[in-house]
Amino acid sequence: MEKCWSHVFLLLTIFFFPQLLPQSHSSSDYRRHPPRPLIFTPHDLSKADPQQVHISLVGRDHMRVSWITEDKSVRSMVEYGKRPGRYNAAATGENTSYHYFFYSSGKIHHVKIGPLDPGTTYYYRCGGLGPEFSFKTPPSTFPIEFAVVGDLGQTEWTASTLAHVNQTDYDVFLLPGDLSYADTQQPLWDSFGRLVEPYASRRPWMVTEGNHEIEIFPIIYPHGFKAYNERWPMPYEESGSTSNLYYSFDVVGTHIVMLGSYADFDAQSAQYKWLQADLAKVDRKVTPWLVVLLHAPWYNTNTAHQGEGESMRKAMEEMLYKARVDVVYAGHVHAYERFTRVYDNKADPCGPVYVTIGDGGNREGLALS
Ligand SMILES: *[C@@H]1O[C@H](CO)[C@@H](O)[C@H](O)[C@H]1NC(C)=O
Ligand SMILES: *[C@@H]1O[C@H](CO)[C@@H](O)[C@H](O)[C@H]1NC(C)=O
Repeated sequence: MEKCWSHVFLLLTIFFFPQLLPQSHSSSDYRRHPPRPLIFTPHDLSKADPQQVHISLVGRDHMRVSWITEDKSVRSMVEYGKRPGRYNAAATGENTSYHYFFYSSGKIHHVKIGPLDPGTTYYYRCGGLGPEFSFKTPPSTFPIEFAVVGDLGQTEWTASTLAHVNQTDYDVFLLPGDLSYADTQQPLWDSFGRLVEPYASRRPWMVTEGNHEIEIFPIIYPHGFKAYNERWPMPYEESGSTSNLYYSFDVVGTHIVMLGSYADFDAQSAQYKWLQADLAKVDRKVTPWLVVLLHAPWYNTNTAHQGEGESMRKAMEEMLYKARVDVVYAGHVHAYERFTRVYDNKADPCGPVYVTIGDGGNREGLALS
């Protein structure tokens, strides 16, 4: 099928360091910017007020609204409508919470709302009180615009990245892993949720996990992903997956597969079997674009994290190749790089384009080589 790049403004990959472009500087005089300080974002409203509000796509025409309250009596209820202050619909959902050593989370609310009209602004309120938020649903036809940012963290660079992204009227935010860099310090998950709220409450944020989401502690938390799974549930059941660590969804002519670099991926694994079934169902007449996101890149010329994606590449690359995936986005390496179409380490016009986009602004700074 002949596809035209102009149909879809695929992807605002974020160069927030334009100096990285090789033509603007020779390698000898380019100095990478150092990391910037962490921003801790406090909650300055009441305990019942919603905080860390973020939304994600569920199915064709629903949205999940997620938020947290310190007050446990607040109801998991979202009121919404197409005019500010006029809520002619409401939905109730679920609540959860978790403990991690001495930390206990607030009440985490997840409410699915819809059906919603495409390309429409909705105004909403969480738990029956607090400020009004609004979001825009994706359109029903091309063009659609995605923003893709990996390894976000919560530093001054993160704030700069998000402010840049927000300058365009993109439709869906895609994050291939490494969200908060809380690294077991749970209050930093809350701080991250507050930092991203102004953006993640107005456009759907679709994420997959990175190594900073793992948070395994031997014997006590052997499976990991506790904070991630409770706070950032994605529509995995809707795509036949049994794990929040990998799933897929469709949005405007695009089938997006979110793989899990930190879930089993060998030929006997649940993820492998799920991916096989998922790719077999793709109808390129309905979704001519096929995009994959995962955390640890399969192709990487940096010394940072060299070879870490290799076993997953060996296990799954042929499946993506045969399915004629268009683009694979990865994070993990704190750099930007883009490969030509490639399969099995050789340029191949039928292989996907691989893009690493791990320079979102986290506290570890840029890859040095
Ligand atoms: C919170 O969830 C529990 C089940 O997990 C349910 O019994 C309870 O009614 C929910 N509370 C609210 C306020 O939604
Ligand atoms: C993001 O952009 C929108 C539209 O221009 C604007 O209304 C909003 O205030 C911006 N958000 C932030 C946090 O800057």
